[in-house]
Amino acid sequence: MADSFDVVVIGGGPGGYIAAIRAAQLGMKVACVDDGSRADGRPAPGGTCTNVGCIPSKALLQSSEHFEHAGHAFAEHGIEVKGLGIDVKRMQARKGKVVAQNNDGILFLFKKNKVTFFHGRGSFTGGSAATGWSLRVEGPGAAELVARHVIVATGSKPRALPGVAIDNRLVLDNEGALAMAEVPKRLGVVGAGVIGLEMGSVWRRLGSEVTMLEALPAFLGAVDEAVAREAQKAFARQGLAIHTGVAITSVKPGKKDVAVAWNDAAGKAQSATFDRLIVSIGRVPHTAGLNGEAVGLKLDPRDFVDVDAECRSNLPQVWAVGDVVRGPMLAHKAEEEGVAVAERIAGQHGHVDFNTVPWVIYTAPEIAWVGKTEQQLKAEGVAYRSGSFPFAANGRARALGDTTGFVKIVADAATDRILGMHVIGPFASELIAEGVVAMEFGASSEDLARICHAHPSLSEATREAALAVDKRALNI
Ligand code: FAD
Ligand code: NAI
Repeated sequence: MADSFDVVVIGGGPGGYIAAIRAAQLGMKVACVDDGSRADGRPAPGGTCTNVGCIPSKALLQSSEHFEHAGHAFAEHGIEVKGLGIDVKRMQARKGKVVAQNNDGILFLFKKNKVTFFHGRGSFTGGSAATGWSLRVEGPGAAELVARHVIVATGSKPRALPGVAIDNRLVLDNEGALAMAEVPKRLGVVGAGVIGLEMGSVWRRLGSEVTMLEALPAFLGAVDEAVAREAQKAFARQGLAIHTGVAITSVKPGKKDVAVAWNDAAGKAQSATFDRLIVSIGRVPHTAGLNGEAVGLKLDPRDFVDVDAECRSNLPQVWAVGDVVRGPMLAHKAEEEGVAVAERIAGQHGHVDFNTVPWVIYTAPEIAWVGKTEQQLKAEGVAYRSGSFPFAANGRARALGDTTGFVKIVADAATDRILGMHVIGPFASELIAEGVVAMEFGASSEDLARICHAHPSLSEATREAALAVDKRALNI
């Protein structure tokens, strides 16, 4: 006899587990199915984000930043460090502990909210919206389920470089890049995107010589041009060798290292041998094992689950959220869609505005933005004004000893409504929230400029950038 639920969520990443909690809060009988497992076989809900993405990468970024500060920045503060060393195994064990705390936290939240958790692979077996969708769970939590509504939140997996097998020994995807037990002397990275820059930064700080091979001619092409230029300068200073306009011609793993050949931007053949190679060239939707074919679940030409603006699939009462559908592949975008879908199922009006989804790259300097870049506005023919303020002129940044970068506010020339905020510098990941709030409330740059900001704080740079839109910054 199958268990019946109002909502079954397939996938327990940030899209899925948050959808399950919100649906349960709204009074529905909810189950969440997730196949992630820890090394000892216990469930590991939280998806890519918790297990091999956001959380472990930020744990390693933090550890490696402490190491870098101890080695390079402390001296300036008069702090002497002698005998500085690195124990990568311990660093990795700490990362593992942080991940496990998050896994356990999600299991606790399921209990608290009365979400029934099934550990295993969920797949469609048949049914309809009228009779309820039939699902099977295979694995430790094997079960047969019937659901009035199904939310597919099966996430994404790394995009493969054609002809290059990931062995997570020499040629690594995100899982391998996060799990190295020692610091490779020579680290190659194919793809200078978000993962490449974050992982490249971790291992460079720990001592690797890092070479990044990026296909596109422009570095960080989607980012504000001035931010990308500042980032490229900062990363070059740190010793990240970033080559753009590269076409990889061969990747040959040997016994202990990997030989990589490429044509450079001028078409000249180049080659290098690396102790490890990270391949981070984007991610693709993950629907294998879902058996969507059994019910006719439609995928789009890029294999994402085909959904409308409200995350409805082609099947009634089957929804999809997060990385498995169009839009930015970000944990908080997945969460927002999960909440919105749960609310729509409950008859409410959930809403997600992609234009106010913030982006953050957790390098040093951090890079964050929301809304439109100047180059996008130019392409769209929108008249705008922009104002920037450098951290070099901010007292708190000077006290921190971290004055790289700036804040930029972009506002509509006619209405002064804020259209975008771009930050490169200390705590950009936190500062960007003010821009998101301002944009959500339809604020003008004048509104931001007239808000009292604490002194001394990095957020004063945001206020000054807003003042600079009207050419009246006070501290520069
Ligand atoms: P996922 O998190 O991928 O979760 C899907 C879950 O479903 C997985 O547990 C999977 O095993 C399970 N599953 C799949 N099929 C089935 C099935 N048939 N039955 C049962 N379970 C199934 N985003 C940010 O916003 N900030 C960051 O700092 C950040 N850092 C990242 C760092 C790295 C290295 C990577 C790789 C990604 C990072 N991301 C970050 C992206 C973020 O991880 C994803 O956008 C997010 O995890 C997507 O959530 P999701 O719920 O859609 O899917
Ligand atoms: P990405 O899209 O950020 O970067 C991939 C890079 O690889 C691009 O610059 C692309 O031009 C390049 N590339 C593609 N094919 C190539 C080839 N054949 N040779 C060389 N370069 C090639 O994807 P990435 O870094 O893999 O990350 C996947 C996604 O995960 C991100 O887009 C983001 O959505 C998410 N993520 C988010 C993070 C955050 O929010 N801080 C951190 C890490 C990942």
